[in-house]
Amino acid sequence: MEWKSEYSVGIALIDRQHQEILNYINQLTASLNARDRWTVTHHLLTQIEDFMRTHFAVEEALLEIVGYPAEEAHVASHGKMKAHMAELERRSIKEDITEELIAYLCQWFIQHVLHDDMDYGRYVSKHFRQVGGLREP
Ligand SMILES: [Fe+2]
Ligand SMILES: [Fe+2]
Repeated sequence: MEWKSEYSVGIALIDRQHQEILNYINQLTASLNARDRWTVTHHLLTQIEDFMRTHFAVEEALLEIVGYPAEEAHVASHGKMKAHMAELERRSIKEDITEELIAYLCQWFIQHVLHDDMDYGRYVSKHFRQVGGLREP
């Protein structure tokens, strides 16, 4: 999957992290033909899990700061993703889950990033416009 400008949620730091997620998906796709595919997948999977934890922590802190009304549901969605990734990691020890992982991450990117994250992006932009507006003389 390639990054497109319409994927932007309007916050540069978050966009860079979302680009990094696409980068991981592409690395996984590239590993499909690798001879040591299992090792590559397992290594990338642990890296992705670490990265997602950081990314979710940043998003959740941001939602807390702006008082996002749907924060609880958003955090719950992150929790579901983390649990699914942990499950995939557990299974990846015994089976090759590379294709399943790629499909899951692509689907997650479309459903979560391009919908749920987009929703808070609009709210956050509006919030900061208003806060900025209040500061204006
Ligand atoms: Fe996100
Ligand atoms: Fe999110």
